Amino acid sequence: MGEIKTKILLDEARIQARVKELAEQIDQDYADCDDLIMVGVLKGAFIFLSDLSRLVAIRRSVDFISVSSYTGSVSGNVRMLMDIRRNIEGKHVLLVEDIADTGRTLVYLKHLFETRSPASVRTAALVRKLDRMEHEVHIDYLGFDIPDVWVVGYGLDYDEQLRTLPYIAEIEPPTQ
Ligand code: IMP
Ligand code: MG
Repeated sequence: MGEIKTKILLDEARIQARVKELAEQIDQDYADCDDLIMVGVLKGAFIFLSDLSRLVAIRRSVDFISVSSYTGSVSGNVRMLMDIRRNIEGKHVLLVEDIADTGRTLVYLKHLFETRSPASVRTAALVRKLDRMEHEVHIDYLGFDIPDVWVVGYGLDYDEQLRTLPYIAEIEPPTQ
């Protein structure tokens, strides 16, 4: 892979400060909840979920799911690759995503989890591309709105690269 040019959009300190605020908000909102299940969407959410879940103080557990989305001819399709195994009936679930782009993944997951009779399903996303949103989904815990650019770092990848950067940067994909 050739050199990838990046420009920092959200630095590490800003992200960490915001994640801490979101954790405080979650603590307040779920103060009466005795077991919050925080479900991260692989792979992108692994860093956000690990930071967020360590900053909340309420009783919580973490779990992961994996989905793939198709943007080709069957547009709008999301497929479950790996589901959670535990029963969420009567439980509070917080879906944790790295990014809401079109919103398709979160809409799909929220609806799916709501069919399983949980006590509640809420959503968190570190960043959202507001101009790209096509699927109406309320994000209960949103880090930042960002412009419609491809971003990497803090879990987000470009062709599986750059996920582990501590900041979020904008990239210019090389022209083919
Ligand atoms: P959706 O369109 O909201 O369903 O987003 C689908 C998935 O596309 C996200 O969960 C990310 O994994 C990926 N994605 C969308 N935009 C970006 C980006 O700028 N950088 C890295 N991954 C992205
Ligand atoms: Mg993702």
